[in-house]
Amino acid sequence: MSSLPEKKSLLDIITQKIVTSQLWRSIFRHGYPDTPLNQSLVMMGNVFLHLHPVKVSRQAMKITYTWCMGGISFFLFLVLTLTGVFLMFYYVPETHTAYQNINQLSSAVSFGHLVRNMHRWAAHLMVVSVTLHMIRVFYHGAYKPPREFNWVVGVGLFFCTLFLSFTGYLLPWDQIALWAITVGTNLAPYTPILGQPVYQVLVGGPAVGQATLIRFYVGHVILLPLATAILLAVHFWRIRKDGGAAGPPPPPRRELEARLAEAEQGLAPTAAR
Ligand code: HEM
Repeated sequence: MSSLPEKKSLLDIITQKIVTSQLWRSIFRHGYPDTPLNQSLVMMGNVFLHLHPVKVSRQAMKITYTWCMGGISFFLFLVLTLTGVFLMFYYVPETHTAYQNINQLSSAVSFGHLVRNMHRWAAHLMVVSVTLHMIRVFYHGAYKPPREFNWVVGVGLFFCTLFLSFTGYLLPWDQIALWAITVGTNLAPYTPILGQPVYQVLVGGPAVGQATLIRFYVGHVILLPLATAILLAVHFWRIRKDGGAAGPPPPPRRELEARLAEAEQGLAPTAAR
């Protein structure tokens, strides 16, 4: 019996030409991802996908499991960065003009009111989402080895989020901001040993004033966002190295054996779920 060579359609020939070209192969260095090897190569060779480990637990990817609070926190951080850059074009950290700046931004600048409120709301929401994320991680015991270092990095991120909120609060230089920060910073000197130096570093003088505004401004727009960005890079790198988000622990061996026995007796359609 002789087998005739299969006739290829024009589309097949063009596809073949493209996928064997040097240009294509310089970008896609693997075959179609229908084998475990090619699937792994896709994950490792793509700039976006390589942020994930090659294998992740299906359970841990479920939105009902992570609540996506980490992802939402990151999204809010990006929103805050973008809207914050916009606000920086108009805001000047000077005690006589800061309040006017903010008022003009809200009333006279196109989209100023919207962007200011986006920044405000995203800041409040980020405090909520980071706290919920922390509670979720704790509830699932995802702080346990090998993720204990990432928990510590997370605590750093939590404090950065709170300090970003705290420093941003003073910037409008209205009565509520001024007195809230006066009360907040006056708590510091009551801390033993470190209290007074910490107060000096924060306030920069005998009372909340121009020096405080500059300090809070620099902290709010440079130091804290930079620290957060660095910690986020470490956080995401660590998640990848720790094998992605920790899924629920596998069922105990006895339960698996019982399921297997049930399946063998034909009581259940599949052995492993
Ligand atoms: C700016 C703040 C933060 C961002 C953007 C962030 C982002 C993320 C993302 C995207 C994940 C992947 C899984 C998920 O979404 O739940 C994750 C996992 C994790 N985060 Fe955060 N995170 C932040 C703060 C924190 C805090 C405050 C803690 C704890 C103190 C923390 C501890 C962890 C740990 C231990 C994991 C691994 C969880 C697991 O394996 O299930 N993170 N984070």
